[in-house]
Amino acid sequence: MKILLTGKTGQIGGELNNIVGDLGNLITVDKEQLDLSKPNSIEPVMLDIKPDIIINPAAYTAVDKAEEESGLAMTVNAIAPGLLAKAARKVGAGLIHYSTDYVFDGCSEIPYKEEDPTNPLNVYGKTKLAGEKAIANVGIPFLIIRTSWVYSLHGKNFLRTIKKLAKEKDKIQVIDDQIGAPTWARSVALKTHQILKQCLNKKWLETNDPSLSGIFHLTCQGKTSWHGFARKILNISNASQNIKLITIPTSDYPTPATRPSNSLLNNEKIQKAFGLNMPHWEDALKDCMGSN
Ligand SMILES: NC(=O)c1ccc[n+]([C@@H]2O[C@H](COP(=O)([O-])OP(=O)(O)OC[C@H]3O[C@@H](n4cnc5c(N)ncnc54)[C@H](OP(=O)(O)O)[C@@H]3O)[C@@H](O)[C@H]2O)c1
Repeated sequence: MKILLTGKTGQIGGELNNIVGDLGNLITVDKEQLDLSKPNSIEPVMLDIKPDIIINPAAYTAVDKAEEESGLAMTVNAIAPGLLAKAARKVGAGLIHYSTDYVFDGCSEIPYKEEDPTNPLNVYGKTKLAGEKAIANVGIPFLIIRTSWVYSLHGKNFLRTIKKLAKEKDKIQVIDDQIGAPTWARSVALKTHQILKQCLNKKWLETNDPSLSGIFHLTCQGKTSWHGFARKILNISNASQNIKLITIPTSDYPTPATRPSNSLLNNEKIQKAFGLNMPHWEDALKDCMGSN
């Protein structure tokens, strides 16, 4: 079993790199070995490696910058995943890919289900949605795991931003009118491992069983605002006494890309299909901040 992993320098890719190796011969490709912004390079690399499983957490993830780099974001997030899927069909591989709550507009009052209508508010969300469609149309065994508000001890994320600001400032302003479920990259990687193991046991590649393909939502449990997330980070860091945390509305923090006000994803489908539960976001955050 050859497992090809992209994006190992990223948050989810880095965790996957440490976790999925026991399921087969893990081959990682970085941006130099496989640049997803160069579509012509994708098929030759796949035909050379001939993986059985492709796991693709690599993506263009700079949400605000995507507003001005829409061509590049579309190539990496939509064209490349479609070509990975086509290459997977040629070599008989299955594909695990990651997507985002930003495919929704956030107007729903309740957590989004997989089949709810999409309506991305920003370029990044549009490119990720196009990537989902490009994969789903190819007819291979595939899993698209939509997650949200990902953090880890590495890379660019809200946890690291708040920890940095806490060292530099005595007050921090944080938005309280966007709701979501902060999700530890390691939790996503651990569940991906469990899901892939189950798929392989159920002969995923041989049968292409439709119940084992499709879009699945996977986030930590519970909900909070960015402000609530920041407060918890400061509490766990024992830094909350020294810093004043001020709530602001989204309108006071304009960004190039509009974000959905409700980022919550309903996880029932993945729970039923694979019998797994994600940790509560507060527990995962404590574990993450206590880990190395
Ligand atoms: N972060 C979130 O809050 C969030 C939320 C929902 C969904 N997601 C999705 O989850 C997945 C993983 O996100 P993440 O936060 O772990 O990502 P990340 O930390 O930003 O890492 C992205 C990875 O993609 C690689 N990459 C970027 N451009 C590439 C290219 N042209 N060719 C090859 N590799 C390229 C990066 O390599 P370099 O390090 O070399 O640039 C890096 O390894 C993505 O599909 C993302 O859309 C993320």
